[in-house]
Parts: sequence; C-alpha cells; structure tokens
Amino acid sequence: MAWLSLEFRVSGADVEVLSDALFAVGALSVDVTDADQGSQEERAIYLEPGEDILLSWGRNSVVGLFDRQSYSDQILSALATAVHPLKLPEPVEYRIDDQDWVRLTQQQFEPIQITQRLQISPSWSAVKDGSDVNIILDPGLAFGTGSHPTTQLCLEWLEHHITTGKTVIDYGCGSGILAIAAKKFGAGDVVAVDIDEDAIQSTCYNAKRNKTAVEVISAIENVNIKVDIVVANILPSPLTVLAPLLAQLVKPGGQIVLSGILVDQGSDLMSLYGQWFEMSTYKVMDEWVCLQGNKLGS
Ligand SMILES: C[S@@+](CC[C@H](N)C(=O)[O-])C[C@H]1O[C@@H](n2cnc3c(N)ncnc32)[C@H](O)[C@@H]1O
Repeated sequence: MAWLSLEFRVSGADVEVLSDALFAVGALSVDVTDADQGSQEERAIYLEPGEDILLSWGRNSVVGLFDRQSYSDQILSALATAVHPLKLPEPVEYRIDDQDWVRLTQQQFEPIQITQRLQISPSWSAVKDGSDVNIILDPGLAFGTGSHPTTQLCLEWLEHHITTGKTVIDYGCGSGILAIAAKKFGAGDVVAVDIDEDAIQSTCYNAKRNKTAVEVISAIENVNIKVDIVVANILPSPLTVLAPLLAQLVKPGGQIVLSGILVDQGSDLMSLYGQWFEMSTYKVMDEWVCLQGNKLGS
C-alpha cells in the first residue's frame, strides 16, 4: 500500500487556511511550492531577517501527504468543512510507493566540482579523480553544501587569493565550508564565527572530519582579532549592521569578501564598505554578486 498525496492549486490568499485545514484533518506533512516552478512565471522569494514572512506565490501547489490507510473521499469531506466558506478546487490524487528514502535523498547530492582544483563531496560518494582539494560535506542543519552560487563565488575567490599563512575569518560560517576551504588552500590561522548554534556545531564537526584546524567562535562573544582576510556570505541586512565590526576585523592592507547579495543590492553595500575599503565587484553568478575590498590605510 502507498502513501496518499492530495495536491491543490490555490491562490496565495488561500494557502494558509488550506495548509492549516490539511493538518487539522490528519496530513502528516504539507508542502507549498510555486505552481509556476520551471516556467517563465517562476518567482524566487528571498527574505531578509526581520521581514514579514511571505509563505506563498501568486499560484501555489499545496500538497498534503496522508497515512497509507487514508481514504481521499473521507479527507475531502472533512476538509470541505474545515475550510468553509472557501470552496476548494478539485485535487490531483497520487499514491506514493514506499522507497528507500535515504538512498533517494542521497542521490540528490552528487559531488560538486567548484573549480578545476576544488571538489565538494558527500561522505557516501566516491571522490572523482582530478581535484587536488576535496572537502567532505554532508547536507545538514547549517547552510553551505557548496551548491549555492553565493558560496561558490566565495570559494572561487578564496582559491585565487589565499597564499600560504594568510589569516582568515569566515563570518557567518554555516557548515564551515569556507573556513575549511581556506585552510585547505594554505591559510594560516582560520576562525569561523556564527550566530546560530547549529552552525557552530556543524562547523566543528565538518572541520574535524576534514582534518582542518579551524577555531569556532559564537558571534555572541566578542570577536576581537585582526586578520588578513574576512569572508562573509550572509545577507545585505546583517552585512549592513555588521559593517563596522567586519571592517575592524581586517588588518590594514587586508581584504574583505562579501556575498549573499543580489545584483541590485550591491551598490548600497559598496558605498557603505567604501568608508574602509577600496571596493569592487569580484564576480556575478546568476543573480548574485560577490564584492571584494582592500582595506585602506597602512
Ligand atoms: C548563507 S549562510 C552562509 C554559510 C557559509 N558560509 C556558506 O558560504 O555557504 C549565512 C550564515 O550566516 C549566519 N549569520 C546570520 N547573521 C549573522 C550574524 N549577525 N552574525 C554571525 N552569523 C550570522 C547564519 O546563521 C548562517 O549560518
């Protein structure tokens, strides 16, 4: 017997009431995605910390997953009562066969060739020949598998700018991927900082697994050192708030790398960081820009 899945196409205004009703009538999970995914109308939603949470698109696919013993006619009648006075569209019904879910999930994470030299591989996958720097990283609670352009831009920058012994802070370390890469590219002391406890634990675990010495510090503590390179892949709003602190962490003549920035958000950050750095665009990938700066003064 298979799991029962019911998919409804609804407008953004109806998503919340339908999701709540699906849970109320016994859904094990509710999945909301852009119904225009894969088409010209697909729209990405990015949220800055503190912004109102927008949980829906113009047209949404809302999928409720039910226990294998469930019957759709019973669910639909309970659902009609639960969403009243909303009239539900006819759902599409699927049965989902049981599978080896762990293997299926793992298959989504293939090794990623970031540059000719650098490869990120999950632990269950064989390392492909041809890369001299390999990072073992499994997807987990913290951001940073290497698949996102904002991370890839920083990795590329680090590969091309780290020289032996340079000291580095990875501010907003997530999985620790940038700190680990910096160390593997020959950096000297590397410090990883994050505000999130899961990220701190992930970085400790991943650094150990990759046999790299990375000091991990909570952002709650006072980070009071100066290094040659600060790399921060966060988002424009924390990058704005953190600007004086990040600037202070870079030695005169040192460098800063800022990522997590959409192309049209770049100029404000360039002006802000221009107080302390000679700023320029490193590279653009998809709609993301990575900024770099050389610290002014001697
Ligand atoms: C987009 S992830 C980047 C992870 C990884 N460095 C990468 O490049 O893939 C951003 C990280 O910044 C952290 N972060 C957000 N605001 C922060 C703050 N004010 N101080 C320190 N870390 C912060 C988040 O917890 C998250 O782990």
